[in-house]
Amino acid sequence: MKIGTIISTEESPSTSQFMFVLDKDKDTVKKGQFVQVNTKDGELFGYVNELFRANRYFERAESVAEYEKTNSMSKFPVGEWDYLLGEVKILGTFNNGRFLRAHAPPAPGAKVGIADDEILKHFLGFVETGMSIGSIQHHNVDAKIDLTRLLQKHLAILAMSGAGKSHLASVLIEELLERKKEHGRIATVIIDIHGEYIGFKLDDKFGVKTTLVDGSEIAFPVRKVTPEMIEEWMPTLSVPQRELLRHAMHDLKKTEGNYGLKEIAEYIEQSDVARDEVKRTLKRALSELRRYKILSTNKENPNLLNDVKPGEVLILDFSSIDSLRKKQILVSLIARRLFKLRKKEKIAPFLLLIEEAHNFAREKAEAHEAISRSIIETIAREGRKFGASLCLISQRPVNLSTTALSQCSTHIILRVTNPNDLDHIQMSAEGIDARVAKSITSLRVGEAIFVGEAVNYPIFVNIRDRKSTKRERGLPLHEQAKTFEETRKKKEEQVEAFL
Ligand SMILES: Nc1ncnc2c1ncn2[C@@H]1O[C@H](COP(=O)(O)OP(=O)(O)O)[C@@H](O)[C@H]1O
Ligand SMILES: [Mg+2]
Repeated sequence: MKIGTIISTEESPSTSQFMFVLDKDKDTVKKGQFVQVNTKDGELFGYVNELFRANRYFERAESVAEYEKTNSMSKFPVGEWDYLLGEVKILGTFNNGRFLRAHAPPAPGAKVGIADDEILKHFLGFVETGMSIGSIQHHNVDAKIDLTRLLQKHLAILAMSGAGKSHLASVLIEELLERKKEHGRIATVIIDIHGEYIGFKLDDKFGVKTTLVDGSEIAFPVRKVTPEMIEEWMPTLSVPQRELLRHAMHDLKKTEGNYGLKEIAEYIEQSDVARDEVKRTLKRALSELRRYKILSTNKENPNLLNDVKPGEVLILDFSSIDSLRKKQILVSLIARRLFKLRKKEKIAPFLLLIEEAHNFAREKAEAHEAISRSIIETIAREGRKFGASLCLISQRPVNLSTTALSQCSTHIILRVTNPNDLDHIQMSAEGIDARVAKSITSLRVGEAIFVGEAVNYPIFVNIRDRKSTKRERGLPLHEQAKTFEETRKKKEEQVEAFL
């Protein structure tokens, strides 16, 4: 569809941009829309970077004064002089199925059209078997993003709270659950901090593909834990304490039967290789660990070997856990275990989604607050070789480990208004130019910018509606308030009746 004609200005057309005048009836063209120009090198693609409106009549003071004096539209057909100018940034040329950089400027006078949907799909890098996440802004094109390109080298979803991160994550999970076997299905594990994903379990369609585990029920046999893991959780242990712990776990492992933290404590008590002070502090550290009720004698829940399955999701609902340390220990334990099992190819390639990732891979954190950071950074660095992918979700990107963030080669950014976060995002994601950065603050809920590996060019996507049941732990505020007043009134009535 023709929308306008390229004009000649001092700086353009060049190989990077051109200006065009819009046809009279084509004032529906939008900033950000993709356009196309037929050139001798093939179809040239670009996007409308800015729109300008001009009217020569109002450039001259005398004519404006004259217009104001008579104020008659019929006498002065000023509307005739009104026109729209579009500034287009050139992205490249499409010729015989291949995309190249534009080597020559398009000609002044050439016709400009709205980009063809079919070619646009190729141009942006979408594939038929891709994950259907939403639609491209201003175009009737489904954003079908290639699974490998989106996830293999890790994904970061960054935005302020309420911008639609969890909604988008749910859409991604739906796509992973609905994926056909012949297209390659991966397993999904989600660290669900607020119990926002439990709706999957209750859903008619997705329920059968969902395993839901309450965080307080997670347990892991001590036998499968190494002393190094415990040392990571208890970074304040001294060298003699570490030695004693290794000794204990090493000896107990050789014994028949199961053992738990209690047995380790008993072993330490009886040991005669360490000073009493060392024994005492180590036992105190272990009793803290006992309070968390994570390590068991033989209970294992979830059983990652069985519960991590291709085309299915394992939701670990942490909403009942208050202690951040406990949550970090759990994330460390689960991520380590998943990565180990995956390296041995005992489980399917997986995506580990971590909500509030800044709490689990914090940029500037003391050792005791950084328990799960090292495994997250390890997976970020080495995961792609083994089919272990991360999706880090955060509303505080400034606090998120730069090592982990810089390994995420696709960033999906929704609305962000905090200038510090904006700066940080701009620095950590390649491909965010000034134009994209400027648009981030004006995104609405559910609107996202995709940059990086997954797409050929930064794109603006309207995230689609979700198909799965939405259910969260905790009632909406007004419901909570109603319940509170109603129960209180009932109690008062009971008291009155009693008196
Ligand atoms: N693309 C979208 N379409 C429709 N509703 C959305 C969309 N994105 C977010 N929402 C709604 O906006 C609200 C906030 O979204 P949510 O995903 O919880 O934000 P965040 O996780 O970033 O805090 C929710 O009620 C959600 O249903
Ligand atoms: Mg959320």
